[in-house]
Amino acid sequence: MNKAVESKHINFSNQVVEKRIEQLLENMSLAQKIGQMTQAERLFCSPEQARKFHIGSILSGGGSCPGDNQLADWVQMADEYWHASTSKDERHLGIPIIYGVDAIHGNNNVLGATVFPHNIGLGAARNPELMQKLASATAREVLAAGVDWTFAPTLAVAQSNRWGRMYESYSQDPVLVANYAAPFVDGLQSSYDDDGVISCVKHWVGDGGTTKGIDQGETTLSYQDLERVHMLPYYPALEAGAMTVMVSFNSWNGDKCHGHRFLLQQELKGRLAFSGFVVSDFDGIDYLSQDYYEAVALGVNAGIDMFMVPEEWQRFIEYLTQHVEIGSVSMSRIDDAVRRILRVKAASGLLDQVKPSARAWSNHSSFGGEKHRQLAKNAVAQSLVLLKNDNSILPIKKQNRVLVCGKNADNIGHQCGGFTIAWQGVSGNEDIAGGTSILNGLVGFHEQVTYVEQDRVEQIEPNDFDVAVAVIGETPYAEGLGDIRTNENDIVEAGSQIRGLMKVLEPYGTSTKLSELHPEDLRLLRSLSDKNIPIVAVLISGRPLQIDLELDLTDAFVAAWLPGSEGQGVAEVLLGKLDFVGKLPFDWPRDSAENSERGLNARFPIGYGLNYR
Ligand code: GLC
Repeated sequence: MNKAVESKHINFSNQVVEKRIEQLLENMSLAQKIGQMTQAERLFCSPEQARKFHIGSILSGGGSCPGDNQLADWVQMADEYWHASTSKDERHLGIPIIYGVDAIHGNNNVLGATVFPHNIGLGAARNPELMQKLASATAREVLAAGVDWTFAPTLAVAQSNRWGRMYESYSQDPVLVANYAAPFVDGLQSSYDDDGVISCVKHWVGDGGTTKGIDQGETTLSYQDLERVHMLPYYPALEAGAMTVMVSFNSWNGDKCHGHRFLLQQELKGRLAFSGFVVSDFDGIDYLSQDYYEAVALGVNAGIDMFMVPEEWQRFIEYLTQHVEIGSVSMSRIDDAVRRILRVKAASGLLDQVKPSARAWSNHSSFGGEKHRQLAKNAVAQSLVLLKNDNSILPIKKQNRVLVCGKNADNIGHQCGGFTIAWQGVSGNEDIAGGTSILNGLVGFHEQVTYVEQDRVEQIEPNDFDVAVAVIGETPYAEGLGDIRTNENDIVEAGSQIRGLMKVLEPYGTSTKLSELHPEDLRLLRSLSDKNIPIVAVLISGRPLQIDLELDLTDAFVAAWLPGSEGQGVAEVLLGKLDFVGKLPFDWPRDSAENSERGLNARFPIGYGLNYR
């Protein structure tokens, strides 16, 4: 067993905070304590209910947005929950709720926000300093909405491109992920002052290592490998003072993380001396038992402190109250959980904050503003990886007559991917106010650009163009809906349902070959190739895919990942205003690979990337 990690945490507590917590705790009823341990979804818990049941946290699940999803609607909603939760009386102590969202690539929920590249592209940039800046900008745009807490950064070390959440992982290399963890946490929390939000490192532990990449599946590893690959990035994150940790849906060697006392108590809270609070994932305790009453006790006794029980929050409160009354959950366990929650609320300043609408960053003009968009464009430019550039077809020359085509050329929603406005992302340009598509970017910088719809490319006159830019690839997905499963038996073979249920969602596809996932792209490239027009392919995707057929038809091939709202950043590099700097954060499989798990017979290895020099 590892020696205890030297606890060099930035301790976000002190004697004043601890004394205050104890004073609060000794005056709390059981109902108030259990209320603090409960996180409900905004659609299922009104501000009045939050007050009546002393709820500790409210969240917006993906796409759960107030009003017209304008910034002001969010701030108004935050005010309503703040007023309700802080209004004291003889029943209610007035402890403010903490509002949480998935702001995982900017404040991606709100219309008009700056949407940064997803983590897979940031991993290609190999730039930890950039992470701090992106996180700080994200914090400001979260604060602009009156929100206190983001469920980020994801510290997954993804091992398979079949996983629908690979794009949320910076890299297959735990050291790269670890190098990003502390700067991102620090950028988000900004030393807990008014410019920061509370971070949530996730998902503890082994989310990126499931067999066959099945989301929420089974991670079968020795403790040594689990620690070396999947725990490693948490060490710098916790040392940087990350205040919350989210438990993972996956199981480790057959036991669900949500019920894993060793991983939560001995490892996270013991060996790593984590003093913040552990939050469950979305109904994550459901998979501990088919009897919800039993699942509640299993989750609490394993060491979870706050429970993301979006709809079932009243049943959760009722059952946990019964468990404490009969002694199947101890009061000391309840007090440990509440102490941790109050510690985060006190140390982050939330206990003393003014109402959201009166805070410095609420409704701030920097939200979606030029400064953040410029930062996003820089991040996009640094994320691109040049896989091929025959005859130096790139950069596009000033005199080139450029044909632009492909389903992702003028679709900012597709550029952004999942967790953007809606849980599963959006399509088109309307919902991503203020952004630019790749086409917009090319038109903005280059004289001779012609966009042709995919179904009209057949009719073009080849002599009218010097080069074609074909923007191809995936359409948005999130979580299990992004999984690639060759057959439904994969789930059983992978042991994902060992001793616990799992959510089985419709997979994105049954092959990691682009030509099978999106045959329209190969058809497009073939029709361009038949016309002898030099082709630059730009792949929008949440992961490396097998692209041998497509690659052979092109003169240049760019991995653009999921660049976010600022497609202009792609155009600037294609036009040579900036050079490529990106390096692959994952192995890129060749078609002949037995399977597309990492490292086997890679077409391009991790670290690969060309440039113009
Ligand atoms: C989801 C995800 C988690 C997210 C949470 C809240 O199921 O697993 O990453 O933070 O629910 O939306």
